[in-house]
Amino acid sequence: MHFRSGILIITLIAAGSFTANGQEESLRAYADKIGLNIGTCIFGRTYQSGQYSEILTRDFNTVVAENEMKAQAMQPQQGQFSFGTADAMVAFAQEHDMKVRGHTLVWHAQNPSWLSGGSWTRETLLKQMEAHITGVVSHFKGKVFEWDVVNEAFGDRATNGVNPLRGSFWQRTIGDDFLDSAFTYAHRADPDAILFYNDYSTSNVNSKSTSVYNKLKEMIENGVPVSGVGFQSHQTLEDYDEEFIASLKENFDRFAALGLRISVTELDIRITLPSGGNDWVTQAEYYREYLQTCLENSACKTFMIWGFTDRYSWIPGVFPGTGEALIFDDNFEPKPAYDELLETLKNYKPDAIRSFGGFRNNPASRLFTAGNFSRSIFNLRGEKIGTYSFSPTLLISAGGRPPAASQTVVIENGKRPMVLMR
Ligand code: G3I
Repeated sequence: MHFRSGILIITLIAAGSFTANGQEESLRAYADKIGLNIGTCIFGRTYQSGQYSEILTRDFNTVVAENEMKAQAMQPQQGQFSFGTADAMVAFAQEHDMKVRGHTLVWHAQNPSWLSGGSWTRETLLKQMEAHITGVVSHFKGKVFEWDVVNEAFGDRATNGVNPLRGSFWQRTIGDDFLDSAFTYAHRADPDAILFYNDYSTSNVNSKSTSVYNKLKEMIENGVPVSGVGFQSHQTLEDYDEEFIASLKENFDRFAALGLRISVTELDIRITLPSGGNDWVTQAEYYREYLQTCLENSACKTFMIWGFTDRYSWIPGVFPGTGEALIFDDNFEPKPAYDELLETLKNYKPDAIRSFGGFRNNPASRLFTAGNFSRSIFNLRGEKIGTYSFSPTLLISAGGRPPAASQTVVIENGKRPMVLMR
């Protein structure tokens, strides 16, 4: 039996055989098959040539500009837009059949000084916000499918369990309703774009994500056209445990229940350097669990990594002593994280996963306590890979029966095993 870094998926019958369709194996090829937008940020002109470009176009079907669509780049002088660099990125994406996320319209950082340092009233700043959003969103209308309309509006400190909005120049000058205006202007400029609120440290259930949740709920109730929530997901290896992943799922579920699209927008998983031992393997498991959590939620259709090679990443500059956060090393060699993502996409079974969600929420599910028995084990391509003996305490089954021949069993090392109903 082959345990692949912690999780083993086995099925009790020969599953439908998987055909690679003659296509080269890649993240993109498998993501395309299941309708997932899998993406990365790109920067400057690096994306245009060499090994970087080859990997980019082979493995990703979606891109986002790391810095080139931020206000500083888009409107360096008041009233003068500068679209050249971003236009080149969009043209490249279109040539290669890739989608483009837009990042970002209203943020407290990377603004031109005329904007962040100007002296504004509520009315004049709202006018500027409207002019900026309208100028940028209309320019890219039909070319950018998801926009991060407001980025990082919430503060990191909670008082009595509530994180107030950050005291940015937007919030101080306009008030807490600046988000409502931003989304309204963006929606007017491109009614077809999916409009996101995007933030960090919000992907699991915590005071910040709860504050975001309450705000978005209120906005939706008031008819503000917010249609998605972006979880930036700048993670550290130390965050990773079973409890975190459970909380991630719960958080995704509650935002999806508001009717929002969910996007993982900037995933990276940094490691304390020098890395060693199992760090890259644990990192791979963490990437896999993140992707799996997205796949399990039907509202999650976009999964973006903030870069793909450790050669280029914002992390060592901002968090000295940490790095190696991405899925290729600095020589463009795939890391275990790449292999895990590939395997996860390759083995993804939409029906099983969808019913997985149902199983978890099904109160009839309970521990199976009947006697031992054994079964042949097949992998998802239907190849027999061994025999497995179930012990009474190891198995959970819907309705307390042993798994039927048509059920898939998922066993995680050291974790509770689960039965996926087909
Ligand atoms: O463009 C100037 C260049 O003219 C100058 O010579 C050079 C000298 O340092 O700086 C260049 O600007 C840098 C810019 O990236 C472009 O490379 C800034 O100093 C640097 O601060 C900026 O960092 C970016 C950071 O956002 C700014 O907050 C990172 O590349 C970018 O990855 C990062 O992205 C953010 C997301 O937008 C929001 N979520 C968090 C994420 C990571 O911080």
